[in-house]
Amino acid sequence: MLERVDFREAQRESFRADVIAGLAAPRKTLPSRWLYDDRGSELFERITQLPEYYPTRTETGILRDHAAAMAAFAGSRAVLIEYGAGAGVKTEILLGALENPALYVPVDIAGDFLVTAAERIENRFPYIEIRPVVADFTDDFDLPADLPKLPPRVAFFPGSTIGNLAPPDAVDLLARMRAHVGREGRAIVGVDLRKPLARLLPAYDDAAGVTAAFNLNLLARVNRELGGDFEVSRFAHEARWNEAKSAVEMHLVSLADQSVAIGGRRIAFAKGETIHTEDSRKYDLGEFGRMAGAAGWRVAETWRDAENLFAVVGLA
Ligand code: AVI
Repeated sequence: MLERVDFREAQRESFRADVIAGLAAPRKTLPSRWLYDDRGSELFERITQLPEYYPTRTETGILRDHAAAMAAFAGSRAVLIEYGAGAGVKTEILLGALENPALYVPVDIAGDFLVTAAERIENRFPYIEIRPVVADFTDDFDLPADLPKLPPRVAFFPGSTIGNLAPPDAVDLLARMRAHVGREGRAIVGVDLRKPLARLLPAYDDAAGVTAAFNLNLLARVNRELGGDFEVSRFAHEARWNEAKSAVEMHLVSLADQSVAIGGRRIAFAKGETIHTEDSRKYDLGEFGRMAGAAGWRVAETWRDAENLFAVVGLA
């Protein structure tokens, strides 16, 4: 219990430090990982079901259509290591297709979330051993020393969350996966592909306003957790395409000249100034392959939907 309180306190301190530093910068920014408190996670879950948000539906379809090929690629008696434990139905599709999986190792920073996810998998697959690991997978961490050493170990990273990382961090994570699974290991990674903006932008600015609520919740979170006094209605959500980065950027645009107090500091916003809250990079397969190559992988398999919206990539 004490550990959980300490963890929450440490999280809040780290949130405070990021908010103070990010809002003091000449171009204001907040790291996207803070979008996911309970309310943010609930809103993200609703995003995944929106008609405009094609990635979740498309990737799930690819996993369903190619589950047998992915299972063959992973090999028999696989140890499946999932980076982030929120993929739900996608994990179930892959685990359900694997031949005699030896072990499922979900890795997530949110302990509560991890327990819920592990329980769900346990109910569905009572014959698969589960070893949850509490860790921030965007940082270096070790897997438990007593995991079976025999291959195959398979890293699973669906959702195109790789696109939310800056390329050097994405390479670091892919290299960490390589170190975790070893030279004989494999990885299965979801990658959202470049596509016409008419298809892309509505996925990040839906008609029902759920993505706007998800983005604006970050300001409400600052108010709730850090005692800020943001007037949330004086900011607006914006999704814009940055061609140089090949990314959809999410911003919160100040609708007026205003200032906000956070823990004894005052931060001024000019009308039209923005807080940059997320990058969602869209790759072409050549570029993703080069990035994987820099992390010690080779693209062995690519599974795609008929419209080429999304790819699930098998790395060896
Ligand atoms: C979690 N991640 C893959 C989502 C994405 O599409 O980049 C986060 C998201 N942001 C706005 N909508 C969804």
